[in-house]
Amino acid sequence: MIISPEIIDDIKFKNPIEDVISSYVNLKRAGSNYNGLCPFHSEKTPSFTVFPSTQSFYCFGCGAGGDAITFVMRTENLDYLSALRVLASRCGVTLPEETERVPGKKEVGRQRVLEMNKEAAKFFHNCLLDEKLGADGRKYLMEERKLSMAVINHFGLGFAPNHFFMLHDHLKSLGYSDEEMTVGFLCGKNDRGVYDYYRNRVIFPIIDTTGNVVAFGGRVLDDSKPKYLNTSDTPAFKKSKNLFALNFAKNHCENQLILCEGYMDVIALHASGFENAVATLGTAITSEQARIFSRYTKKVVISYDSDEAGQRAADKAFKLLQEVGVDVRILKINNAKDPDEYIKKFGAQSFKSIIDDSKSKFEFECDKIFAKYNILNTDEKIKASHELSLAIASYPSEIEREIYCQKISGILDVPKESIRKDVNAILMRRTRDAKNKEETELFRKSSGIGDRVNPSSAEFLKANKIEEAILGLIQLYPSHLKIVMEKMTVDNFVTLFCKKVFEKIKECYDSVGKFDIAFIQDAFNVDEISRITKMMAERQRLKTNGEDVLNDLISSLSKEKNEAEDSDSFDSILSAINKKKK
Ligand code: CTP
Ligand code: MN
Repeated sequence: MIISPEIIDDIKFKNPIEDVISSYVNLKRAGSNYNGLCPFHSEKTPSFTVFPSTQSFYCFGCGAGGDAITFVMRTENLDYLSALRVLASRCGVTLPEETERVPGKKEVGRQRVLEMNKEAAKFFHNCLLDEKLGADGRKYLMEERKLSMAVINHFGLGFAPNHFFMLHDHLKSLGYSDEEMTVGFLCGKNDRGVYDYYRNRVIFPIIDTTGNVVAFGGRVLDDSKPKYLNTSDTPAFKKSKNLFALNFAKNHCENQLILCEGYMDVIALHASGFENAVATLGTAITSEQARIFSRYTKKVVISYDSDEAGQRAADKAFKLLQEVGVDVRILKINNAKDPDEYIKKFGAQSFKSIIDDSKSKFEFECDKIFAKYNILNTDEKIKASHELSLAIASYPSEIEREIYCQKISGILDVPKESIRKDVNAILMRRTRDAKNKEETELFRKSSGIGDRVNPSSAEFLKANKIEEAILGLIQLYPSHLKIVMEKMTVDNFVTLFCKKVFEKIKECYDSVGKFDIAFIQDAFNVDEISRITKMMAERQRLKTNGEDVLNDLISSLSKEKNEAEDSDSFDSILSAINKKKK
């Protein structure tokens, strides 16, 4: 642990978890706890619970859990220290500077990469402005792409000169190491040494909502390949969790966000007054990004390229965005390949009008189906009607389905009741399939199969249940913690993960005299922290948590442990016999 337990205590004390989480989730009191809709998966009934007594949260739906620090880590996509820093500044505590920085030894941390990125962004921008060095970049951006200096400055665009070591040498002069540059994806390394990745490209810095330069996209000036070079994941950046220009769009998104495919589309839109445009970063939209949208807005207009690939990607984006509960529209762009070209050809006013009458997904699907079939032909009409029923069945709202049935009935000239029956049959089949799937999943879970956090739970199901109960109880009651710390040792535990949890809790108890999940956080990843919190949350739901229960659990575990060992030796005897037989 780098930060002392006293400081962590202080920060956690000054940031009650219910306060921290209420700025992200609408919480409702339920007894001594709070409930709300989980920010980590999409749900309609709240299974996300905040426990003020243990200062933790747990989602009974998706299994995410932890304390205020883990919550900030997850929602803001930060590492432990940065999350702690956010909470510290929220309550006015100053963290001591990270003291132990052994050059070359310590892993390259997020903060260091961010500082380096900021320097790199300045470097690229200055190169673009440099009379000589930036001439090609300026020609491309200003003459070919028609961007004004104001827009270039607003987005902090830059230019990487056609040299192999310029950025490298510059960063080196500022004290950054080769390792930091390669880990931060600014430089590559081959047998001849370290060289700049970004050469002869215009640079689009990616800035997160707190103003950090987290990554870069670099575009070639001609038709060479690859057209864009993007930062891969680094300690400071995860592609799947960021959106280009959200740092600007977050202030203009109450009504809607416009989702584009490319950097240039977003820039053209902002320059024409659509400051609510964002783009994903060189990949199709992920469910994590969809969740970001749902946090910032109620409505998203997908405005992808008009080619087939763009439209296919729009379909996928639609599904993901609908899952997180935002109202999604799809823009149809005619006579231009993308929003950038459209605005240049037809102007902002015209773009505004196509945004305003962008189609609902259903209208969009209908258009596609009617384009495919000739409904004057009976066979084709049946096919069209079936596809339409399938489409209608995927809308969760009954009213919406009713309206669409009505609409289709008119167009196909088929009674509404028949269409509705078709749709209901599809829905019933889907519910049945989903239920089967859920049951299989439940079985898998209860038998420990596929448990990635604690793979050995499948083998020792019963023992694992008891271990988890004990580890849950000691998180709830300090008196139980004391008993367990006095009575038990790591050898009393059976599964590997629970052994490790016990050991870490014990280390923490021995040094600080109590337990707080924050003190053991560096030893576990977020999924493991969630599991440890789950043990607590499951016990919290029960009324029988007294000392007698704890003692019963301890003795049952020792029985299970013996049986587990017996079965071990039985297995070895069996395999010895089998070997002899051969
Ligand atoms: N992209 C990428 N790598 C490529 C091609 C595309 O990462 N080789 C990503 C970029 O984020 C790009 C987006 O996909 O912005 C859309 O691609 P495309 O439509 O080809 O680029 P535009 O942004 O429209 O750029 P331009 O107008 O300069 O062609
Ligand atoms: Mn494009």
